[in-house]
Amino acid sequence: MPDTPRPNSLDAFWMPFTPNRAFKADPRMVVRAEGMHYYTPDGRAILDGTSGLWCVAAGHCRPRIVEAISKAAGELDYATNFNLGSPSAFEFANRLGEILPQNLDRIFFTNSGSEAADTALKIALAYQKARGKPGKYRLIGRERGYHGTNFGGISVGGIVRNRMTYGPMVVGVDHLPHTHDIARNAFSRGQPEHGGEDFANALERLVQLHDSSTIAAVIVEPVAGSTGVIIPPKGYLQRLRELCTKHDILLIFDEVITGFGRLGAPFAADFFGVKPDLLTMAKAITNAAVPMGAVACSREIYDTILANSETPIELFHGYTTSGHPLACAAGLATLDIYRDEKLFERAAELAPYWEDAMHSLRDAPHVIDIRNLGLIGGIELEPRAGAPMQRGLEVFRKCFDAGVLIRVTGDILAFSPPLIIEKAQIDLIVNTVRGALKQVA
Ligand SMILES: Cc1ncc(COP(=O)(O)O)c(C=O)c1O
Repeated sequence: MPDTPRPNSLDAFWMPFTPNRAFKADPRMVVRAEGMHYYTPDGRAILDGTSGLWCVAAGHCRPRIVEAISKAAGELDYATNFNLGSPSAFEFANRLGEILPQNLDRIFFTNSGSEAADTALKIALAYQKARGKPGKYRLIGRERGYHGTNFGGISVGGIVRNRMTYGPMVVGVDHLPHTHDIARNAFSRGQPEHGGEDFANALERLVQLHDSSTIAAVIVEPVAGSTGVIIPPKGYLQRLRELCTKHDILLIFDEVITGFGRLGAPFAADFFGVKPDLLTMAKAITNAAVPMGAVACSREIYDTILANSETPIELFHGYTTSGHPLACAAGLATLDIYRDEKLFERAAELAPYWEDAMHSLRDAPHVIDIRNLGLIGGIELEPRAGAPMQRGLEVFRKCFDAGVLIRVTGDILAFSPPLIIEKAQIDLIVNTVRGALKQVA
């Protein structure tokens, strides 16, 4: 076989969530990464303002993780966890249990956040059946919610473009209203003041409509990321927890982006002081070096399903690569880095500086809102008349050309840098975005 010429053809790879035609006409490639940076084929460094896709929390190509993966690959490349065990999966589940909220330490491994969301929904339904309440089948999501792209996730999710092509969805789903309220909460520093209790009280109305005897679970992202960084107003998650408990409904936190220090605490559940019954994770669980997701369940859920099973296998669910040895090795090394470098604490320490830096863009052109929490930032731009999303995309391209990777959702710029970021790099992100905003019409 002759060597494939580089760059090779871009035709065959159907790129996910990408305008394929536009990208392939004007591609942006990276070939290497280290620490806070990606590198382009011509050697240009690009500062990573988004941790890849909210996932490389410890920075890129960390030698400890690389070594752990290669060692595992040479020792036990693969073993099924169906009826056969491999030690690293047990060890990793135990280690996760040590940093998860108390009692939320029964772990089901998946390969992605989407699978984690669908797994959590299935476990919620299985639990209701196991405790003798099979009538509790409804799942409640939220407008603008994102729980990945599988059918359960898009059913409870609330991003219209992700849903409209694929109906009908999973039946028996309803949605809470989203909590984005620019009219009252624009330019909030940290959690917005207004609307928390009211938005959560919408669950009471859904209970009145459907009756709690039909509702299995509510799933929300504690901080909504993919829809453009929506920070929960004060009191919202606490009230949601109260109502779920009152009506005997499970609360699922999708912590795929908030898990592992993003808010300056191990999980958003810790940060907000609100404990869900199930919690999904992915992305930073392995620093994204090997794909993995997981669902943490309360002992009550796990014990109930096991105790009431009529069949030897208690949950008919799993993936060929659930608890894959390479993913577990990467995850264990990642947890070591988080602990030894105190990265969650570091995120908490940097958060005030990050907040000031983000809000310093308030007077930049086109900015109609700025939002922040932990090491998350969102900057909402006024959409260009007659061409929504164009302005955001142009800012994204200009930042990339200037050496900074940001993320854009419509006309909202999203930021989630690795937790190892330095203050000077925060300044560079902000200055680059300011420059880009000045350049776009
Ligand atoms: C909150 C949330 N849940 C689920 C997912 C899906 O994860 P994955 O892309 O690994 O399937 C994402 C991805 O961004 C997410 O942000």
